[in-house]
Order: sequence, then C-alpha cells, then structure tokens
Amino acid sequence: MTEPQAPHSPRTFQSLLITGGAGFIGSHVIRRLLRTQPQTRIVNLDALTYAGNLANLADVEAHDHYTFVKGDIQDADLLTALFAEHAFDGVIHLAAESHVDRSITNPLAFLETNILGTATLLNVAKQSWTERGCMDEALFYHVSTDEVYGSLGQEGLFSETTPYDPRSPYSASKASSDHVVRAYHHTYGMPIVISNCSNNYGSHQFPEKLIPLMIRNIVDERPLPVYGEGINVRDWLWVEDHASAIEVILTQGWVGDTYNIGGLNEWRNIDLVHKLIELVDARLNRPEGTSKALITFVKDRAGHDLRYAIDASHLEERLGWKPSVTFDEGLANTVDWYLQNQAWMDEVTSGDYQQYYAQHYANRG
Ligand code: NAD
Ligand code: DAU
Repeated sequence: MTEPQAPHSPRTFQSLLITGGAGFIGSHVIRRLLRTQPQTRIVNLDALTYAGNLANLADVEAHDHYTFVKGDIQDADLLTALFAEHAFDGVIHLAAESHVDRSITNPLAFLETNILGTATLLNVAKQSWTERGCMDEALFYHVSTDEVYGSLGQEGLFSETTPYDPRSPYSASKASSDHVVRAYHHTYGMPIVISNCSNNYGSHQFPEKLIPLMIRNIVDERPLPVYGEGINVRDWLWVEDHASAIEVILTQGWVGDTYNIGGLNEWRNIDLVHKLIELVDARLNRPEGTSKALITFVKDRAGHDLRYAIDASHLEERLGWKPSVTFDEGLANTVDWYLQNQAWMDEVTSGDYQQYYAQHYANRG
C-alpha cells in the first residue's frame, strides 16, 4: 500500500461529491467538470461561509447534473445521508477556511473546519464505501496547499519530498489534514490523491486575497496595503489551470500519490502590485502610474513566509499537465473580469466585509 499505483485507465465517475464548491477554486472546478465530464453527477456541499457565494455558480445552477446542498463538512449525519442518497464514487475535498490572515486572528475555526471537518468527511466516506463494498473503485481527492512546506529562502523550489514545516495556523491545519488523509490510505486502504498548489488568481476570488483586493482598491482609489517591505514572493497560477490540473489528477492520478501544482511564476508582492496598477490604470484611461501614490507599506503579517515556489515536474512528467496561459494573459483576463463584474464585487464587499476590512487594516499603517 505504500507505493503509488497508476489507474488501469482514466477514471470516470457517476456521482461526485465536491466540498467547498461555492468558493473561488471550487466554483471553477465544478464549472469545468460539468463541461468536460458529461457522465458525472455533481453534488456541491458548501456551508456558505463569508467566502462561499452561490453567485459564483449562477451560470450552472440549473444544470441537470448539478445539485447544491448547504451544509457543514463537520456534520456527520448530513454526510451519511448524502452518501446514502447519491452513492458517491468520488470526493473532491476543497472546503476549508483558506485565508492566512484570518487564521492568525481566529485559529480555532481553521482547526475545526480544516482538520476535524476533513476527518469527519474521511470517516463517513470510509464507512459508506466499506458498506457498499466499493472502496477499491472509489477515490478521495484532497486539495491542499504549498504552504504545508513552510517558507523558502531566496533559492530552491518545493518538491513533493520537501519536509512539512507549516508556520501559520492555516498551513498547520492544512498540513494536519494532509496527514489524516494519508493515514486513511495507509491504515484503511482508502484510495486517495493529494495535490499541493501555489497561489491561485482569477475571477470570483474573495477580495481579502492580494490580487482582487488590490484591483478593487486601485479602482476605488483607496490605499494599497503592502505588508512589510513587499519583498515576499509568491508563485502565481491561473485558477483555471489549477482546475485543469485537478481534473487530470482526478482522472489519472496514481492512487496514494501527491502532486505539486504551480506555474513557475514567482513575483515579489511589490512588483505584482506595480503590474496591477499598470493594467488597471490603463483600462481606466488614467495617466500611467497614477495609482502608484496609493501604495502604503503597512505592518507585516505575523510569521509572514518569505517565499513559495513550486517544482511541478512530477505532475508534468507523470500525468503530462502544464499551465495553458502566460501570466500576462491570465492577469489581463482577471483584471478585465473584475472591471466587468462590479456588481459581484459590490455584493461580496457589502455587509461583514466592511467590518473585516476596517478592523484588519486598522493601526497597521
Ligand atoms: P475559499 O475560501 O474561496 O472557499 C472555501 C469554500 O469552502 C467556501 O465556499 C466556504 O463556504 C466553504 N466552507 C468553509 N468551511 C466549510 C465547512 N465547514 N463546510 C462546508 N463548506 C465550507 O477557498 P479557495 O481559495 O477556493 O480554496 C479552496 C481549497 O483550495 C482550500 O482547501 C484551500 O486550502 C486550497 N488552496 C487554495 C489556494 C489559493 O490560492 N486560493 C491554493 C492552494 C490550495
Ligand atoms: O500558497 C497557496 C496559498 O495562497 C493558499 O493556500 C491560501 O489559501 C491563499 O490564501 C494564498 O495564501 P497567501 O497568504 O500567500 O495569499 P494572500 O493573497 O493572502 O497574500 C499574498 C501575499 O500578499 C502574501 O505575501 C501577503 C501579501 N499581502 C496580502 C494582503 C491581503 C499584502 O502585502 N497585503 C495584503 O493586503
């Protein structure tokens, strides 16, 4: 059970449970799979926290093969009922508390959802697949993050054998959940795959994350809060390329294997903010560089990881996946989407967001 096993042929699924599908990445995954896997019925289980938004899936809500269920992955009774009703033969688990800054102010929510929620889901899947005698044909796919590997210095890349060294409550909770998923594979023989991806960007991302937050603030001529000196590095991947990697791993990933996903696309935060200023100012017909004056260096994130960068060669060599767009193409598409979807931005930033934003950035200057 320790060596990863290749599937005999690409897998197909009759009935997939996708958790966290109303969030940023999950909504792209669902939209993609409804298009590319016509035989598969998809149930999206999402608690609709502040980060979940059914408007992200408005274009597919009437699709014959799509069902939405509002609920929490920690609710074992609900999960058991859903497995009984839908006879899932696969799970793509994305539901999580996902924002590092929020994990610093409210760590317990992250431990509960990301660790206990994942364990609850694994337990119900194990029970259901054992009772139905279909464990060997099923698959539990856990979507995780490169942050489990900790922080890089100026050199080097994370590979699948980089030791885990999480440093924030968020990354510690994701690392724990990875370990629990592997434990279900080794102990109970549950077929699993895990992927660890770098920073995603694209449409429908909640504007607490760097790129949509900066786009919104440039448009509205608000301060652009850059943590520390802006020298931290992130490796950015277009969300639709993450969704394509998830499909490849779902259908062809070796059981028990781990795949790092990334775009070899490292940017210092300050350079990325300058690039966004250039793009947004040009589209708003503002003179070049107008919004540079909005850049405000603020108090650094506690325990801020210096650099993430992914070696995705295992995924490319074993399953043939590569990103489909350049950063220029992906970022232009992303900026255009936010400029053309001001109503979406207004909706997600009404209500609680105002309070979060005011509290989070208060006294950082
Ligand atoms: P997100 O915050 O946009 O969405 C998370 C979704 O999970 C939301 O719809 C939310 O309502 C739902 N959710 C939260 N708690 C829940 C619970 N207890 N029960 C059911 N649903 C719940 O997150 P995202 O950026 O789309 O990330 C999705 C997954 O991918 C996460 O597991 C995250 O760790 C991982 N990931 C994200 C990135 C990234 O750059 N965003 C990179 C690598 C991995
Ligand atoms: O690496 C993958 C991870 O990427 C995912 O697992 C997480 O779910 C996702 O949120 C993301 O984590 P980061 O912490 O890297 O993303 P965020 O957009 O919050 O921050 C990106 C960088 O920008 C980081 O170095 C902090 C900095 N930053 C962020 C915000 C919100 C700022 O300088 N100012 C800001 O206001």
